[in-house]
Amino acid sequence: MKDVKCCVVSCEKSVDATYWEAQYKAKSTGWDLGIVSPPIKTYIDKLENKNSSILIPGCGNSYEAEYLLQQGFTNITVIDIAPTLVTVLKEKFKNNPNIQIILGDFFLQKGIYDLIIEQTFFCALPPIMRQKYVWKMHQLLADEGKLAGLLFNRKFEVSPPFGGSKEEYETLFQVAFDFLKMNVCSNSISPRANSELFFELKKNTKVKVNLYEFSGISCSGCMESVTKKFAAINGILNVSMSSNYSAVLIVSKNEIAVDDLQNAISYDEKYKIEKICN
Ligand SMILES: C[S@@+](CC[C@H](N)C(=O)[O-])C[C@H]1O[C@@H](n2cnc3c(N)ncnc32)[C@H](O)[C@@H]1O
Repeated sequence: MKDVKCCVVSCEKSVDATYWEAQYKAKSTGWDLGIVSPPIKTYIDKLENKNSSILIPGCGNSYEAEYLLQQGFTNITVIDIAPTLVTVLKEKFKNNPNIQIILGDFFLQKGIYDLIIEQTFFCALPPIMRQKYVWKMHQLLADEGKLAGLLFNRKFEVSPPFGGSKEEYETLFQVAFDFLKMNVCSNSISPRANSELFFELKKNTKVKVNLYEFSGISCSGCMESVTKKFAAINGILNVSMSSNYSAVLIVSKNEIAVDDLQNAISYDEKYKIEKICN
């Protein structure tokens, strides 16, 4: 698998719940702004429905949620995987009926939200999770639901954060979402000036968005061939494979039978595809 890039802090250490918990325990939270991020504040200031259901995944110290509460929003959910942080949040927001604080994995979250706010959660996830992020966001949004917030438009030498580019995000989210906005921010905090994109995406309800486990690919050439085979199937509108080739996101006009996908790649018996359902 020499083409597969490592996307962890070091090759031995995963960016998982244990990693994040250790960061909070060590008070090593360099990402924490101490205030609501200015571009998100500007966005919140334009929201009209104070009762819309809002989710903030990987919420950290939740300055965005605090600002929403101050503005009179009544249906906020925040979720984070780090127990030490969540204990602090439960104390901070105790007795406030307008916010629900969940200790848990975003990818196991259930529910339907009108708005999901992205603030340094996407960039905290190993890039191999990006296709799963798109799938899960699509699943959690209501029919008119939106995903909005900030994404880095740069690379980092040490990760997390894991960077990216506008072109990459356009390819990743296309068809599953309608793009309302994706522009470089003019009011980022100064250390992040010109490196953040503000984006607002609306769930595309006319398509099916499915995620599959894939095995058998060992190089980028094979990945491209498999992607082309899937893209050629009638009804498939977008195919995106994770950077370690273990997951594939397929956006289609109608449900595609797994057998049709398997048949399209039957030229190599190593290739196996299985739908992820939850
Ligand atoms: C870089 S921090 C950002 C925190 C906060 N959004 C901020 O900007 O201050 C990433 C956060 O995502 C949380 N996190 C990472 N993976 C998660 C997952 N699968 N589910 C829920 N939270 C997760 C971490 O515990 C951490 O609090």
